[in-house]
Amino acid sequence: MKTIGEAIQEKPWVGWVLFLVSMALVFLLGIFTYTIVERRTEAQFAYTPLTDIDPLEPRAEVWGRNFPRQFNTYEQMADTSFRSKHLGSQRRDLLAENPRLVILFAGYGFSRDYNLSRGHTYSVQDVHETLRTGAPMKAGDGPQPATCWTCKSPDVARLMKEHGPEEFYAKALSDFGAEVVNPISCASCHDPATLNLRITLPALAEAFERQGRAVTRATHQEMRSLACAQCHVEYYFGQNNYLIFPWDKGMRAEDMAEYFDDHAFADWIHPLSRAPMIKAQHPDYEVFTTGIHYQRGVSCADCHMPYKTEGGQKFTDHRIQSPLNNIVNSCQTCHRQSEAELTRNVYDRQDMVKEVRTRLEDILVTTHLEAEFAWNLGATDAQMHEALHLIRHAQWRWDYAAATHGGSFHAPLELTRTIGAGIDLAHQARHKIAGVLHELGHTGPVPLPDVSTKEKAQTYIGIDLAKLEAEKQIFLDEVVPQWLAEAHARHQRWDERKADPDHMGSYLFD
Ligand code: HEC
Ligand code: HEC
Ligand code: HEC
Ligand code: HEC
Repeated sequence: MKTIGEAIQEKPWVGWVLFLVSMALVFLLGIFTYTIVERRTEAQFAYTPLTDIDPLEPRAEVWGRNFPRQFNTYEQMADTSFRSKHLGSQRRDLLAENPRLVILFAGYGFSRDYNLSRGHTYSVQDVHETLRTGAPMKAGDGPQPATCWTCKSPDVARLMKEHGPEEFYAKALSDFGAEVVNPISCASCHDPATLNLRITLPALAEAFERQGRAVTRATHQEMRSLACAQCHVEYYFGQNNYLIFPWDKGMRAEDMAEYFDDHAFADWIHPLSRAPMIKAQHPDYEVFTTGIHYQRGVSCADCHMPYKTEGGQKFTDHRIQSPLNNIVNSCQTCHRQSEAELTRNVYDRQDMVKEVRTRLEDILVTTHLEAEFAWNLGATDAQMHEALHLIRHAQWRWDYAAATHGGSFHAPLELTRTIGAGIDLAHQARHKIAGVLHELGHTGPVPLPDVSTKEKAQTYIGIDLAKLEAEKQIFLDEVVPQWLAEAHARHQRWDERKADPDHMGSYLFD
């Protein structure tokens, strides 16, 4: 056997062959390593900044051309088939499921129509369809202010830039029917130049400022919740329907109640009990911050927008939905329990909160009806004053716990505490009313009407559902198509301007 050295001495070309073969190998290895590194970098910087997209571009599909993965998962929100024990993406008639709500919200839009929320892509359509917005046949008509659009569409940030927030809020919802057509999308949360999360709606930044904080100094992980806190919060309409978060005294139910008392604020006067009521919106962020996950640094996006991998690329799942439809990515990244066990943990907490919440609902329904009975017997304002204040506070605590649909999981302990306080206040109110009835000479139980179904309860408070539905249908058939056609023409003008190489500045404004 010859050594390589001997072989090369005998036939020098063997040396050259060996040399060239190893050079080729080294070259191939180099290319191979380079591709790996390149792929890794690609995975990290999968997106290039968007200079051709206006910072206020409200149309998801325009952004989607650059970010197909995020856009595809975003579009999956159109699927509303998922239903969990209490929540999910299906449109569910909450008044039919729980007719007590009709009495609790009597005199307020929610007693007409109240459905479980669906995915973000339905935000504008659901405003058109709910009976709460009525049937505004021309601009300026209808029961709701433009403020209602604020959390429904990135068109709002564009309109606020054009008109200023004050002027925007002071208009009617129907004034901007043709302007607000794009559901919540990319521009609601992102700056297109950097893709950083951003806050576009003023109320959150203003609430922070009043507390001496700055939203711009939030950490990256905080932003993964604050992006949601632009909308998933408690709010009210101040002077000229200016949107305000009532956080100045704190974010617990009793802190906000104190704030509302100080501002002598009421959303409406309850027509049965005549109590000055406060409607809780959806204090999801506030309640979440009292829970264990927030305290351990977990953000909304960790559970509702988990990472997903496709073709070796990691990205954020933009199908925002119930995490129970995706436990593997939403929970099992941190918890090693089975899907069944984690689901049970969620349901246990929700069931227990619901149990006490329902008790409070029953007492509140009775209290409103007993107060009505006392008025009918001739009670005076002075006699009823204390009871009405107690009803206001009891129902606010109930609503704070009920309106945040995820709250029974996000912070079950805080909600149970709040509902407990509500039960005490509602009992105190009943006690006061019993005293008034006694003064008026009534003894024995109060005869209560049968309000045990949605239909019976709505008839009792004087809602003519068939009429409201008929009016709504005319509005949906005649007005909404006009709004959408006008918007379509505007979008075409934008696209033409955007395509024009000579266009200057923003292509969005006419
Ligand atoms: C611009 C306002 C806005 C922002 C920002 C926003 N949401 Fe929403 N969200 C809504 C509205 C409005 C709905 C109800 C849509 C409907 O039912 O038509 C909703 C619905 C939801 C639902 C219910 C989905 C379903 O399938 O039932 C979840 C969960 C949710 N949002 C979570 C989040 C999270 C998490 C964030 C932050 C990453 C966030 N949202 C940011 C306004 C917003
Ligand atoms: C409700 C808020 C919200 C909306 C609406 C939204 N995103 Fe995101 N997006 C997020 C969050 C939260 C992250 C994670 C950011 C982080 O942690 O840095 C993210 C991350 C991203 C990223 C970075 C890469 C990744 O996948 O993590 C891209 C690109 C992106 N989004 C594109 C889009 C596009 C395109 C749309 C519209 C179709 C959109 N986003 C709509 C909240 C939102
Ligand atoms: C980013 C990590 C993370 C994610 C994602 C996460 N959790 Fe947790 N979870 C925690 C931490 C941390 C705690 C506190 C436990 C501790 O510190 O001992 C916790 C606590 C809990 C608890 C006990 C709470 C209590 O009431 O005492 C339950 C139940 C739970 N998680 C369920 C879930 C479910 C269901 C999901 C998915 C929807 C989920 N978690 C997603 C980190 C996470
Ligand atoms: C630890 C995981 C976790 C975190 C963090 C979290 N959620 Fe949830 N969320 C859940 C679970 C679980 C549910 C209940 C879903 C069900 O019952 O189908 C839920 C329900 C909801 C719902 C109602 C969904 C529906 O189907 O109607 C909304 C809205 C919501 N969360 C918003 C938020 C917001 C906003 C934040 C941050 C402020 C947040 N969540 C943080 C796990 C989480």
